[in-house]
Order: sequence, then C-alpha cells, then structure tokens
Amino acid sequence: MGVTMGLNLLLLLAMVATNILSLYHLSTTIQSPQSPSSQPFPIPEHLIRQLQTIRAAISHHMHNQPSTDTTTTDDSNSKPTIPSDLLLYAQLSPIASSCHNHPDLLHKYMTYTPFSLCPQDSDLGETLILHGCHPLPRRRCFSRTPSKPPNSLPVNPFPSSFPDSAVIWSSPKFSCKSFSCLAQSNPNLGFDITHEISRFTSYKTELDLPIPQLVQIAKSANSVLRLGIDIGGGTGTFAARMKEHNVTVLTTTMNFNAPYNEAVALRGLLPLHVPLQQRLPMFDGVMDLVRCGRAVNRWIPLTMMEFLLFDVDRVLRGGGYLWLDHFFGKAVDLEKVYAPLIGKLGYKKVKWATASKPDSKNGEVYLTVLLQKPVSR
Ligand SMILES: *[C@@H]1O[C@H](CO)[C@@H](O)[C@H](O)[C@H]1NC(C)=O
Repeated sequence: MGVTMGLNLLLLLAMVATNILSLYHLSTTIQSPQSPSSQPFPIPEHLIRQLQTIRAAISHHMHNQPSTDTTTTDDSNSKPTIPSDLLLYAQLSPIASSCHNHPDLLHKYMTYTPFSLCPQDSDLGETLILHGCHPLPRRRCFSRTPSKPPNSLPVNPFPSSFPDSAVIWSSPKFSCKSFSCLAQSNPNLGFDITHEISRFTSYKTELDLPIPQLVQIAKSANSVLRLGIDIGGGTGTFAARMKEHNVTVLTTTMNFNAPYNEAVALRGLLPLHVPLQQRLPMFDGVMDLVRCGRAVNRWIPLTMMEFLLFDVDRVLRGGGYLWLDHFFGKAVDLEKVYAPLIGKLGYKKVKWATASKPDSKNGEVYLTVLLQKPVSR
C-alpha cells in the first residue's frame, strides 16, 4: 500500500514536472524571436520566498489529500472514504508557468488582505493574462462590484444605451469613464450601438458574409447551427445577431482599455475572459461554429496561430464551420504562410475571398474564409 502510494505520488510529480517543462519550453520558443537577448528576469529574494511559500502550501495540501488512497485500485483492503471523482475537483491547479516571468506583477497581484475587499487592480490581472499568466493565481478576497447597480437591465441585445452604473470605471487604463464617451470616441470599438446594429446584415464587398447567408449555407448543407464561439468578439455584436437566429454564441473578449466583458454581459450575452493563447474551455467536438474576428490577425506569432487553429478544430464538431472574418496580413504571407497553415486543417472551402486592405501602407490584404470541418477523418 505504502509503495503504491509512493509510486502514485512519484508519477504525479513526474507528470506535473514534464507538463511544466514542456510549457516552459513552448513559451520560450514562442517568445524567443521577439526578445532573443532577454535574460531571465532576476527574481528578487522576497519573491522567491513567496513562490516557495505557494509551492510549500500546495505540496502540503497534496500530502494531506486522501486521494492517493482512492487511486490504488489493486488494493482491496483500502476502502475509499470519498468518491475519487469528487476528489478530482478538489485538486489545486498550478498557476501558468509564464506567471513566473513577471514576478513584479505577480507580487503586486498577490499582495492583498485575505477575506476583505480585493484591491482595485483589474488592469493588473488583465496585464498578467495578456502576458500568458493565465489562469491567474486564485485569491481569497471579495471582488469589487459597482456601488449602485442598475435596477433594470436591458433585455434587448441592441439597447439604445448601456447603464454606466453597471461598471467600475476606476481602472487607470480606461481613457473613457462612460459608455457614451466610448461610443463617441471611436465607432469601431463596438460601443456605438447605432453602428453595431447594421453589422453582419449586409453584403458590401465580397469579404462580407451576412448572417442570413451564413445561416442559409448551413441550412442547405443540412448542418444545424446551435452553438458557437466568437473569438475576440469585442462587445458581442456577432453573438447578439446570432441570438435572433436562436444560436447561442459565447464571446471571448478581453478588457483592453475598456469594459468589453461588462458590455457583453449587459447585452444578456456570455463573455469569456479568455486570451487567445489559452486553450478554449470547451470539450472536443461540441461547437457548431467558430468565428475569428479582427483580434486574430498577422500580429499573432505563427506558432500560436497554429495552436489556436488546432484548438478551434478540437472544439468543432464534424461538419462544423470555421469563419475567419477579415483576417489581415501581407499579401505574400497570405499565399506562402497562412493559406498553407489553413490548408493543414483539411477543411472544405465554402468561401474564400481576398481584397486589399484600403488603409494599409505595406501591402496588406484582407482574407475572409468560411471552412467546413470534415464530418469524419
Ligand atoms: C427562435 O425560436 C423561437 C421560439 O422557439 C421561434 O418562435 C422563432 O421563430 C425562432 N427564430 C428563428 C429565426 O428560427
């Protein structure tokens, strides 16, 4: 019994170690082209101590877990006291290895008073996530909510205005402190509903795929659309439009200098605060449709782009659709890099349209493609 337990523990440790190693290897290969000369950040002494405390707490917790008893299936004498499937949910998850690359930010983030209000630091969490530190370490403090929540929330996903009182505007990264300011500052941000209301409805150039046409394409292929993800979906206008077609679309969105997540939620839609580099929190083969908007573009390192596309493939069901909407890149890359990358998926090309990007100085082009995943491989 003791030997089996020891072996299990050893295996577990080996598994964790290899995972961390491969993650670390991955993050360094991805980051190395941008900063070839960067040395590992010199970690201050107190931060090392803090990380050691976190590790010690996790390992202490693991040793006190009765889970090792329940995993010894060959030992008939040991009666598991707690069902092992329940214990699985109680495992402590490690923080992402990239968190260690930003000890200063991590230290700030983890400096709080337990069991009281969290610091006003939502932008700090956002910065850590964008640097690959996701999942963030969990904290035991109460997140802040607006002091005067609106007493009536809009049901219509295209409301004439959003209630400012539903958002904490204190983030120093928010240049606007109201929704009307956001709507006026730039209609392309997605907060100007008078602008949003016409999106996805009309066909102006061949790069457009109006939703009625998308729905028709799926219908004539006998492919039902019920569930979708809009990757980098801003304020959720695609999900809002699809709702009218009884399709449930989740929107992954970051709070990049504005309350995008709150806006999506205020429209009665589901925001997922998930960066592009993270594995989608869905099981394999359960989605009918994935749309990638302008957040997915040529600025994403190619390795990450490949992981992203293959993760999209993972969550799509056979016969599901991938829509790259106005992807932009250099014309030469589109031909030499992106078309072969997309080709690796082996999807059927339902739509493939390119056109030059009007505002581009360096020969960029737009690409809109609708691809259908093969029903079986
Ligand atoms: C959506 O569902 C409702 C209720 O079942 C139905 O009345 C409506 O026609 C559906 N809309 C579309 C576009 O299918």
